[in-house]
Amino acid sequence: MKNQKSNWYLDVVILLGFLVSFFLNLTGLAVHQWLGVAVFLGIMFHLVNHWDWVKSVFSNFFGKASGRARLYALIDGLLLYGFVMIIETGLVISTWFNLNLSNYEVWLEIHIYSSIATLLLAVLKVGLHWRWIVKTAAKIFTPAPKLNPQVLNPVPQASTVSRRDFLVTMGLVGLGSAIAISNVLPSLKKVDASSTVAQNTENTATTAATQAEPTATSTQAQAVTSVPTDASTAIPTATAQPTALPTATSAPVASNSLVCYASCPKGRHCSFPGQCGRYTDSNSNGLCDLGECS
Ligand code: HEM
Ligand code: HEM
Repeated sequence: MKNQKSNWYLDVVILLGFLVSFFLNLTGLAVHQWLGVAVFLGIMFHLVNHWDWVKSVFSNFFGKASGRARLYALIDGLLLYGFVMIIETGLVISTWFNLNLSNYEVWLEIHIYSSIATLLLAVLKVGLHWRWIVKTAAKIFTPAPKLNPQVLNPVPQASTVSRRDFLVTMGLVGLGSAIAISNVLPSLKKVDASSTVAQNTENTATTAATQAEPTATSTQAQAVTSVPTDASTAIPTATAQPTALPTATSAPVASNSLVCYASCPKGRHCSFPGQCGRYTDSNSNGLCDLGECS
């Protein structure tokens, strides 16, 4: 029983940590990264707690394991795969390694999509285990009955679960997950848009490189690809210039003479040390190239 209670607490902590990881805007990136790693370690601990079950199901997977056990094993396998993807992509885009990625948006997209898919699987798993969750919660939170010395062998109360318990459990978990997912949808749209723009820019660069004089090819292609373009206004590549006009960059106001490279998916205009892993400052003016004007 003690084991069940500690498992219950661990399951709740993992789920809450996982949900909070969707609120990067509230936690900030530093906390987000550590929290993500902590959730992953919690999952590993959770897996170790169930290792006997894993061994017995996998050794009998094509034998006497029940259909339900196989389904659980499949969902657990997919969940594990999802968490490995989240951590792997998270580490690649993290500020810890600060890798110089040309396809940052693609990694971030995979990071977000795998987070959403894994969360949906986790909700499904909670749905499959709702009876255990409710019964264990009842044991934890219902105070033990006072022992009457005259009744030496009290009859244990059968703990029953009702449809209402199911609705409350799934309502809470479902609502939390829906809020978490809707919180990242705007970022996802922006990342989608900027990765499309990045792809188009790459294609344009390739065309420009092919059409250019043979001697100038590589320099021109580099100049075009190194400039972030605006996702919404799609600045023609002909106007693209390196972000090296320090006098104008301090004023992020749009005017005819200014070109805004507002391709930051978060619409930020951040200054050193930057608020996200995409912070780059090629002209060393203390402002992120993705949010500045020149
Ligand atoms: C947010 C993520 C997760 C939540 C909320 C969660 C929740 C649960 C719950 C409520 C149970 C049944 C009760 C118990 O803990 O004894 C369980 C069992 C189990 N979990 Fe998880 N789990 C999660 C992720 C994972 C992952 C990634 C794995 C990796 C392989 C995993 C492996 C298992 C295993 C092997 C069992 C026992 C068999 C089963 O009933 O599925 N869980 N989990
Ligand atoms: C439970 C695990 C995790 C989940 C569910 C998760 C989920 C997310 C989500 C939904 C976003 C997009 C948020 C937004 O734009 O509003 C994001 C961004 C990000 N995550 Fe994670 N993450 C997890 C773990 C990690 C880990 C372990 C790291 C690195 C060590 C990491 C690094 C990042 C970075 C660098 C960003 C991008 C920030 C930006 O460019 O704006 N994440 N994550």
